[in-house]
Amino acid sequence: MRKAYKTGKLVNEVLRDVEFEIGDGEFVSIIGPSGSGKTTLLHAIGGLDRDYGGEIEVDGRSLRSLSDVELSDYRNRFVGFVFQSFYLLPHLTVVENVALPALFARGDRTVDDDAARRRAQEVLDEVELGTRGDSKPTMLSGGQRQRVAIARALFHRPKLMLCDEPTGNLDSKMGTQIVGLFRKLNRDAGITVVIVTHDPKISAATERHLRVEDGQLFDDGRTAAEPAAPAAEPAAPAAAAEPAAEAEPARADDREVSP
Ligand SMILES: Nc1ncnc2c1ncn2[C@@H]1O[C@H](COP(=O)(O)OP(=O)(O)OP(=O)(O)O)[C@@H](O)[C@H]1O
Ligand SMILES: [Mg+2]
Repeated sequence: MRKAYKTGKLVNEVLRDVEFEIGDGEFVSIIGPSGSGKTTLLHAIGGLDRDYGGEIEVDGRSLRSLSDVELSDYRNRFVGFVFQSFYLLPHLTVVENVALPALFARGDRTVDDDAARRRAQEVLDEVELGTRGDSKPTMLSGGQRQRVAIARALFHRPKLMLCDEPTGNLDSKMGTQIVGLFRKLNRDAGITVVIVTHDPKISAATERHLRVEDGQLFDDGRTAAEPAAPAAEPAAPAAAAEPAAEAEPARADDREVSP
């Protein structure tokens, strides 16, 4: 594929000649200098941007051939997005944040709250936050917030997870836990995971290493991925929320919801 941004008369050819294939069930990282086009690439693969040249085929379908409705269904159900900012809604509880995709899904206006809550609880258990469903996001640590965002991404059982700097706002220990969780989802649920990262440690933990540079994509090869780190610290009982946490002001990243 190719992608150029046009601003007035200026044309910025970000991705000039990118050709690669990711197999079902792979665990892949993408690195590259700032501004090299990693987010641009992820947005195109995830169906958030369809203004590019060339072809992107996912699961045997050309994304270009999908209608708007089909593309939005692909974004909602096939793909799980995880971003650097967690994009949790501060006025909703954890379980309500995780159930949000039920509201966005096409034709699902009748999804009953009980079914959505049950599914939300299931995915919260998967990320080991099963006891924190009634907390507000501001009561959670950064790593826990990111796990809520991951649970939300898992809500519709995606086949593909696209993660843009998912550990960028976390310290190294929490970053390692989050990558361990992705590894577990990759192994146990067979989800194909693609992680854009600046962090060599995160990249080293994946099985395959891609690099975007000078408008091209290079395959830096495969290594045995590090074994999955424990996904999370043992879940604390809901009543034992960190005492100081409630006083913590909502962070900027809590005020928006993902597009
Ligand atoms: N909406 C846009 N309009 C114009 N130019 C854009 C737009 N989005 C990105 N760009 C430009 O495209 C290039 C690639 O941006 P992109 O966000 O994909 O880089 P990146 O590799 O994700 O960088 P970083 O590591 O800093 O997140 C940059 O030069 C950027 O300025
Ligand atoms: Mg980026």
